[in-house]
Amino acid sequence: MVLLLKSLKDLSPENHRNEVVVPAYTCYSVASSIIKAGLKIRICDIDDETLSYNIDQLNGIPFDNVLCILTANLYGLPNQLTDLEKIAEKHNVYLVDDAAQSINSKYEGRYAGTFGIAGIYSLDKGKNITSIDGGIIITRSRDLSDIIDERYRELDSPTFRDNAVTAVKILIYYFLLNPYFYWLPANLPFLKLGKTIYDDKYPVKKYSSMLASIALLQLSRIDSITSSRVDNGLWYDTNLSQNTMVKKIAVLENVSPAYLRYPIRILDRKKRDSLVERYKKYGLTISYPNSLDKLNEIAEHVVGIEECHVAGKVARQLITLPTHIFVKEKDRLTLCNIINSLSE
Ligand SMILES: Cc1ncc(COP(=O)(O)O)c(C=O)c1O
Repeated sequence: MVLLLKSLKDLSPENHRNEVVVPAYTCYSVASSIIKAGLKIRICDIDDETLSYNIDQLNGIPFDNVLCILTANLYGLPNQLTDLEKIAEKHNVYLVDDAAQSINSKYEGRYAGTFGIAGIYSLDKGKNITSIDGGIIITRSRDLSDIIDERYRELDSPTFRDNAVTAVKILIYYFLLNPYFYWLPANLPFLKLGKTIYDDKYPVKKYSSMLASIALLQLSRIDSITSSRVDNGLWYDTNLSQNTMVKKIAVLENVSPAYLRYPIRILDRKKRDSLVERYKKYGLTISYPNSLDKLNEIAEHVVGIEECHVAGKVARQLITLPTHIFVKEKDRLTLCNIINSLSE
């Protein structure tokens, strides 16, 4: 994301454009990447039903200094991407389609990540395909791709030690992904599992060919990897009930979701927190604990702060359920029973 945003800044013919518009509920590393790229963050609230942008608030933003609008496509659920493409076009700014969590999902028949001028996919932990580190940038612009290539060549390469450490992490990760072993990391507080902490200390380096070969291997099986996530996500969607305590996230029309995880809202924060505390051993987690407008670490880089009531509420209510290939019928049944038994 840092590389892409810096390259986009180079591409822009208008030097004063230094703001990146982000949905108020997204991954903290999106915010830190914008700051690392030397740009400013403009935050916009999200929609109460879909977690996608609040389109009215987005349309009301002053676009004079905006370089690009970022999508979020959280949990494998694409945002309203064609609308966002139109808004970006109307205001003469770039759209960057952040499909870090949405590889292989589609909106109106097009893959998330392919909207706007460029998109990214993350290969980090917990993603549909993962090499623990790294990511993919795609772009339809030859000029942008040339700038990215040039900037990429200037990055440091990972050292042998970097690669060795990552290889060990990959082995541990696959071992711990099995629900049978969830109790183990859940009881190791130093792993800070399920906790999102703001971090801007990560290096921006070249991707190693060793990791690329691991990611490519998975990429060749992406449909089958995604299909188990989709099966589990759809199963939760059918079997979880909504009531005054539980609210589902609406999937937009014409979406093929990839369900990286299954998000759902527990409307009472205390109940949400105690649920997660009791059942984190089953892979139940909260997502981002704050909306970006409430994240102190980034405050000095934020411009034109808007009230983001919905994002704040979602941060207090959301939980996510695991959907990966090792989640068995009895695991999802257990989670479903726990949530369905919540009463007022
Ligand atoms: C929406 C979103 N964008 C960007 C990123 C950053 O990806 P990475 O972790 O590969 O740096 C993430 C990571 O989870 C994400 O969820």
